[in-house]
Amino acid sequence: MSEFSTKDTLLTSVQSPLENSGNKITVVGVGSVGMACAFSILNMGISNDIALVDCVPDKLQGEMLDLQHGSFFIESAKIVASTDYAVTAGSRICIVTAGVRQKEGESRLNLVQRNVDIMKQIIPQLVKYSPNTILLIVSNPVDILTHIAWKISGLPKTRVIGSGTNLDSSRYRFLMSERLGIAPACCHGWIIGEHGDSSVAVWSGVNVAGVRLQELILSLGSKHRSEEWAELHKKVVDGAYEVIKLKGYTSWAIGLSVSALCKAILKNARTIHAVSVLVQGFHDIKEEVFLSLPAVLGENGLTDVIVQPLEDFEKAKLHKSAQIISEVLKGVKM
Ligand SMILES: NC(=O)c1ccc[n+]([C@@H]2O[C@H](COP(=O)([O-])OP(=O)(O)OC[C@H]3O[C@@H](n4cnc5c(N)ncnc54)[C@H](O)[C@@H]3O)[C@@H](O)[C@H]2O)c1
Repeated sequence: MSEFSTKDTLLTSVQSPLENSGNKITVVGVGSVGMACAFSILNMGISNDIALVDCVPDKLQGEMLDLQHGSFFIESAKIVASTDYAVTAGSRICIVTAGVRQKEGESRLNLVQRNVDIMKQIIPQLVKYSPNTILLIVSNPVDILTHIAWKISGLPKTRVIGSGTNLDSSRYRFLMSERLGIAPACCHGWIIGEHGDSSVAVWSGVNVAGVRLQELILSLGSKHRSEEWAELHKKVVDGAYEVIKLKGYTSWAIGLSVSALCKAILKNARTIHAVSVLVQGFHDIKEEVFLSLPAVLGENGLTDVIVQPLEDFEKAKLHKSAQIISEVLKGVKM
């Protein structure tokens, strides 16, 4: 007896199951980062409808099977994979993690042209099959690639978002929590600007339960702040380099960070995250660049940006970030 007839004997069809879950997420690139994203999204119950795409068929098939074999433990998960982008059709969010990653000691900006060329292959395919999608770019250098993805996609700026300094802010809050002995969720501090070497720590806004640390530690918000706190931002900037040196790549934290962004979008949570958005016009930034600012996310993607009152030196650092990104963009071959 064939499998088909067994199914037919067992089940009496009343109607076809729904094809579209309404919460489908595509992950392009099934490397360390892509799979950490997919795993976190499934495990945290953010979506149970995942499509995976990569250009290496065997690895793609292997990762799909490995996840599918765990579907017993996840509520009605649907996990599909293909090198053909048709599999991504109808995605609410498309996460892009494909591309080369940093080697030990290499800066994110070094990866630019190689990953721009990869975006040129991927983005038109994603938009073709999911014209209403929200693009969530993770590949580095993320601020540049989010800009390139926005240009290639033709999507409104509210629907192309880079994972940006959401991860850097999390690293910062973790370090702060270690120092103060309280949970990261209760430590409020933002890293904005470039996800990279020129990121900006907004010292003036760092607070716990509304108590500004600047008022307790007078040197905190000044250019000449204490070494102890300056070191914290340096640790954030060096965080990825350190992990890459030790284990070869980063994965778990970025997977969790991207999952939180997907949750905000799919659940229309309107939570605030430091993500890479078009910042021209905010904080007097003249350049057409994507950088991270605290942003409200919901089912349409980006709805609002929070323009924090910055100290002059913080604003100057943000402008420096914008100039650096703008200069790199000028050298990109589209
Ligand atoms: N934004 C962040 O905070 C953050 C954090 C960590 C890593 N990253 C970046 O994420 C990217 C991926 O890192 P990783 O460690 O997963 O790398 P990886 O090498 O493990 O995986 C990359 C995957 O992309 C696939 N790929 C390459 N070209 C492709 C194409 N044209 N189409 C489809 N798939 C393609 C590869 O086959 C591979 O499976 C890197 O650019 C890395 O720098 C970003």
